[in-house]
Amino acid sequence: MNSKMTARLGGFGLGLCFFCALACDAKKAGDAPKAASSGDPAPAPAKRRIGVSQCNLGEPWRVQMNADLERAAKAHPTLELVFKDAQNDSLRQRAQVEELAAQGIALLIISPKEAAPLTKPVADVYGKGIPVIVLDRAVEGDRYTTFIGADNQRIGREAGRYARELLGGKGNIVELKGLMTSTPGRDRHQGFREGLELDKNPGLKIAFEADMAWLEPKARSEMESALAANPKIDLVYAHNDPGAHGAYLAAKAQNRAQAMKFIGIDALPHEGVRYVKDGILQATFAYPTGGAEAITLAVEILNGKTAPKKVTLGTRLFTKENVEQGGRELQ
Ligand code: FRU
Repeated sequence: MNSKMTARLGGFGLGLCFFCALACDAKKAGDAPKAASSGDPAPAPAKRRIGVSQCNLGEPWRVQMNADLERAAKAHPTLELVFKDAQNDSLRQRAQVEELAAQGIALLIISPKEAAPLTKPVADVYGKGIPVIVLDRAVEGDRYTTFIGADNQRIGREAGRYARELLGGKGNIVELKGLMTSTPGRDRHQGFREGLELDKNPGLKIAFEADMAWLEPKARSEMESALAANPKIDLVYAHNDPGAHGAYLAAKAQNRAQAMKFIGIDALPHEGVRYVKDGILQATFAYPTGGAEAITLAVEILNGKTAPKKVTLGTRLFTKENVEQGGRELQ
């Protein structure tokens, strides 16, 4: 990935200037031409159609991403979003990307299920001269316009450090991984191991690890296997909040949940943050959807501006101690 043009922008936004620029732009570009002074009705501004390829809508976080895209697009009356839901199937997502491109979209926004199978379809659209914004999960290579997402390796590293400190350098850990054919799964895993510093902390042990493919029911069944094989588990790190919740339910069903801590990622207000408030999760890390930022950039690109190759979104840590204050931004 081209890191030269990486834009590191804190918090959840792209920075005030960027949004100011956009606000001015929305006025300029239109989003609608003024009526002529003769009193003639203004010609209807041409619609600019944006295809949105979403890998699935089975998880609350993805429903939130689509809602964020839709809300942001409302500020630009000439934009029309055409949503496709690939229902967690890379082949279907590939077909939908091709279908969108054939429909004559002005720009594609895609949150791909997996990196490898979606790399060529994305490159082909980009090769046709249609700008492509890749959101949250990356593809391989650099045949797209812009990637927007949080730094998953960094989130994993922070989770590892948090777990190590919480356990005082000693304990049995279960890691329930997100789909390892998707980039956030790989990055959250690698970062976690770095943050744990296992070489310097021989008392920390990965007792069990499994790929739960981002899915709560699969996390629950993998956790049942972990519980059966390990009489003592001190901490569960799941790559997303649905996974952490599935693990919690499995442990609770065996009256073992109180003996261990659960850490997740996503921090939706009605999901992970709720779990922290309810004492189910020890901590969760915010993973912003990037929906609003994608629309901001889409408008910029459609107006002929050059977009940064990469936009990195920030994260926040939510724990029992800070959850009522809205968590803590990780600098
Ligand atoms: C939703 C999800 C989120 C996770 C993200 C990673 O499909 O699994 O829970 O943070 O995808 O791409």
